[in-house]
Amino acid sequence: MTARRDTSSAEGVRRGTQRHVPVLLPQVLHALAPRDGEAYVDGTFGAGGYSCAILTAAPGARVLAIDRDPSALAAGRAMVDAFPGHLTLVEGRFGELDRVAAEQGFAHADGVVLDVGVSSMQLDDPARGFSFQADGPLDMRMSGTGPTAADIVNTAEEELLADIFYHLGEERSARGIARAIVRRRQEKPFERTADLAALAARVLGREKIAGRHAATRTFQALRIYVNDELGELAQALAAAERILAPGGRLVVVAFHSLEDGLVKHFLKERASAEPRGSRHLPVDIGHGRAASFRFVNQRPVSPTAEEIVSNPRARSAKLRAAIRTEAPAWPDDSGDLAVPRL
Ligand SMILES: C[S@@+](CC[C@H](N)C(=O)[O-])C[C@H]1O[C@@H](n2cnc3c(N)ncnc32)[C@H](O)[C@@H]1O
Repeated sequence: MTARRDTSSAEGVRRGTQRHVPVLLPQVLHALAPRDGEAYVDGTFGAGGYSCAILTAAPGARVLAIDRDPSALAAGRAMVDAFPGHLTLVEGRFGELDRVAAEQGFAHADGVVLDVGVSSMQLDDPARGFSFQADGPLDMRMSGTGPTAADIVNTAEEELLADIFYHLGEERSARGIARAIVRRRQEKPFERTADLAALAARVLGREKIAGRHAATRTFQALRIYVNDELGELAQALAAAERILAPGGRLVVVAFHSLEDGLVKHFLKERASAEPRGSRHLPVDIGHGRAASFRFVNQRPVSPTAEEIVSNPRARSAKLRAAIRTEAPAWPDDSGDLAVPRL
């Protein structure tokens, strides 16, 4: 079935996605291989770059797009209108994508794509509090709900702050930054991003480290913690495994070594019984489970030098993709993740 749609407004919508340049787009499309009549879940709608590309490549497909950020949803309404009957946009967390998918008639999907992390719209708007370059409220919540980064910085125990900076930011001066925060907040709580960025630079003794702002790791760690990004990703991978039909494709783009490591570990484990005889017959690998995925490519796909020049934010992106086998989904072990908690 081919969709009837207003191509002029679809073009307008495509141009509108320029605020956030979709990363590794041709490679994502190649790995996902969308086809008319099939059902896809885009767990990170953002500016809709992937959803729009899927429906442009396969106008007869259906896409369920999810984002936890209400402003991404509001901006995405025009795209829903441009693909009538083919794009469903829902506010929610991708950690629950199987529940959301079942509610929206996508209980069996032919593809799931995740582009994890923050969007350019979120990073570039000082009011969202993700940026150490431009001052704003110390917020960092993608969904606008729950504790803010300021709440964490002003109330968490020193040891927890150090764990967050060390484990989620791989910040070597984690203890020193945590100690300095606790000392400073006794006089005056942190409210602004510039305030925290200046403190990190003071503790590290310089503004820039290897060309990056000294607060980069501190901010990244807080953002991951505030939005439980690793927990969400672990849950999303297990949820995708449950809803993908045999032959369905899971495509994940990650920007951070912790996130990519999680995806790599999940897929390596689930694909560890790479069937030898037939690609379609998963075998038992001795722990009572059969491989539930096989790799599209063993090694991650990285952006080309040209893409990095035209979009420097793509530089650390890694794409991993796998195809669902017919084996049952493995028991959900996403809760085993060692993430510091409040
Ligand atoms: C890198 S952007 C995606 C950009 C998109 N692929 C595009 O081409 O426009 C990531 C998006 O995922 C959303 N997001 C991050 N974590 C999420 C979660 N756990 N559940 C739902 N959406 C999430 C963010 O709000 C953001 O809009």
